[in-house]
Amino acid sequence: MRTRVDFLVIFLVGFLLLGSCFGRFVVEKNSLKVTSPESIKDVYECAIGNFGVPQYGGTLVGYVVYPKANQKGCKSFDDFGISFKSKPGGMPTFLLVDRGDCFFTLKAWNAQKAGAAAILVADDRAEPLITMDNPEEEDAQAQADYLQNITIPSALISQSVGDKIKGELSKGEMVNLNLDWREALPHPDERVEYEFWTNSNDECGVKCESQIDFVKNFKGAAQILEQKGYTQFTPHYITWYCPEAFLLSKQCKSQCINHGRYCAPDPEQDFSRGYDGKDVVLQNLRQVCFFKVANESGKPWLWWDYVTDFSIRCPMKEKKYTKDCADQVIQSLGVDVREVEKCVGEPDADADNPLLKGEQDAQIGKGVRGDVTILPTLVINNRQYRGKLDKGAVLKAICSGFQETTEPAICLSEDIQTNECLENNGGCWQDRAANVTACKDTFRGRVCECPVVHGVQFVGDGYTHCEASGAARCELNNGGCWKGIKDGKTYSACIDGLTKGCSCPPGFRGDGVKSCEDIDECKEKTACQCPECKCKNTWGSYECSCSGNLLYMQEHDTCISKDSKSSYSWSFVWVIILGLAVAGAAGYALYKYRIRRYMDSEIRAIMAQYMPLDNQGEGPHHHASQGNV
Ligand SMILES: *[C@@H]1O[C@H](CO)[C@@H](O)[C@H](O)[C@H]1NC(C)=O
Ligand SMILES: *[C@@H]1O[C@H](CO)[C@@H](O)[C@H](O)[C@H]1NC(C)=O
Ligand SMILES: *[C@@H]1O[C@H](CO)[C@@H](O)[C@H](O)[C@H]1NC(C)=O
Repeated sequence: MRTRVDFLVIFLVGFLLLGSCFGRFVVEKNSLKVTSPESIKDVYECAIGNFGVPQYGGTLVGYVVYPKANQKGCKSFDDFGISFKSKPGGMPTFLLVDRGDCFFTLKAWNAQKAGAAAILVADDRAEPLITMDNPEEEDAQAQADYLQNITIPSALISQSVGDKIKGELSKGEMVNLNLDWREALPHPDERVEYEFWTNSNDECGVKCESQIDFVKNFKGAAQILEQKGYTQFTPHYITWYCPEAFLLSKQCKSQCINHGRYCAPDPEQDFSRGYDGKDVVLQNLRQVCFFKVANESGKPWLWWDYVTDFSIRCPMKEKKYTKDCADQVIQSLGVDVREVEKCVGEPDADADNPLLKGEQDAQIGKGVRGDVTILPTLVINNRQYRGKLDKGAVLKAICSGFQETTEPAICLSEDIQTNECLENNGGCWQDRAANVTACKDTFRGRVCECPVVHGVQFVGDGYTHCEASGAARCELNNGGCWKGIKDGKTYSACIDGLTKGCSCPPGFRGDGVKSCEDIDECKEKTACQCPECKCKNTWGSYECSCSGNLLYMQEHDTCISKDSKSSYSWSFVWVIILGLAVAGAAGYALYKYRIRRYMDSEIRAIMAQYMPLDNQGEGPHHHASQGNV
């Protein structure tokens, strides 16, 4: 309980810090143009909601409907028999509802289900515009199923604009609107700069999953845009610092590095188990450093591969959220591990880390951009993106950031393909000799997955290891096992009955994969060792011959005379057989003798219980020996 309370204190302090130092949240807006009736014709501002898909770069024309019932949109319009579906050729419907009673997202979902093309929410109080956001984490869990399915754009309008529109509608006027997102993002030139504020923590539930899902889905598009020079992307990571009074506390020690300068919340909010906040800060720092090193070598887009691969290969759940695992991923992408290590520096040092210092400075807003206080945040051309974190929606926003006519082809059609497997095999496993690779190019960028080749399933992690499995495996490249042919003889280390693994055939030794070496039975004195034997090693076996008139017997590894009667060897064998026979007979006699002795004494003991025997003195003797029989 104590750690829980302490944690809350630190957490609150952390938030107060964030709140007081970086408190400027900017409401991103687009314009709402009323084209009729004449009396309220004007351009108004509205605030883009943080869900749904705003039509960045586009416009949407429609007319407003304010429902007679369910005016807050908290219930399904089906229940009221209301539908806003426009008929073919009809104008799209913008549903106007009032703020209050339920989440903004539920209103948007109900509007979408009823067929509205967009939703306008009228504020219920006189105040500056606010950003409509998703419900908090706990509530989101219950409703997450529809959150991701909201695709209509949403806008909050002020109470006064809402009243004006409602006034005209009540007079029976048709209110025509033009929702315009063309100026929502600046688009000054032919390159878009964008930032993604994220986190390497993979155990924070829905929020962490949506971040990594976005990275995986957007990777392909991001890499094409970056490689062709259309965008300049920079990843960012939020950290906070430990207040001076708490520097020596257990909490700051477990959540911070560099003597309290850079901290992140404990992943499970429990200081005594699992990974600590400082593990998260370190992995975040490693990702920043990876980006720096990759960027310096002219390949900043490798960051997308690194983050995706790290989340797949090094998850906290499997206890692989470690430096070793990170290093393996870095190596597989062809980036210098030592350079990244140098950049990470000494986490225990009482000194600034220039990169993390830079990240903290970057959290504070510049110009029209607000402070970054929520994760994840996407910033495009120095404006915060609003809307759902989804490939299509984000691509639309980025594309709207190009000066007209300079947008790349990907903005016009999404099916540009590049084959990322061509370079360095995408960092995936491959068997060059057999022309088998785990790299697959997809529209979401490359994935590393063990393939199925000619009906043979390969199994493994896809990055460092794939192995043929199943019955037919030896037919394909000999199951990845060693195989040797010499003088018309073939030896294979792929054993048909086994579903996996390789093992050198008899007469060879080695790993069975890369090599099997012939065993020199003669030198190693494992065969053909009798005095008359003459040993000659062959590949995979040996030849043994005997001098004189003798014959080699492989089973006994000895030489025998072809003429059995006078042979020394045979007499030797006879001696052994005779010896064995004598020993056997003696053993049998002894056994018989002992059995008889035992039976005698047993019968005697039984009889003694019924009648007095002459030699009673033998009784105790019998009992004393019974334990030994
Ligand atoms: C959301 O969309 C997914 C996939 O399109 C679908 O399987 C799911 O049922 C939808 N959820 C709701 C609540 O409609
Ligand atoms: C990445 O490299 C480009 C060009 O080399 C440079 O302009 C940019 O500032 C670098 N970004 C970072 C974050 O280092
Ligand atoms: C390797 O396989 C691919 C497809 O399976 C094929 O297109 C390519 O020509 C092959 N390369 C060689 C050297 O056999």
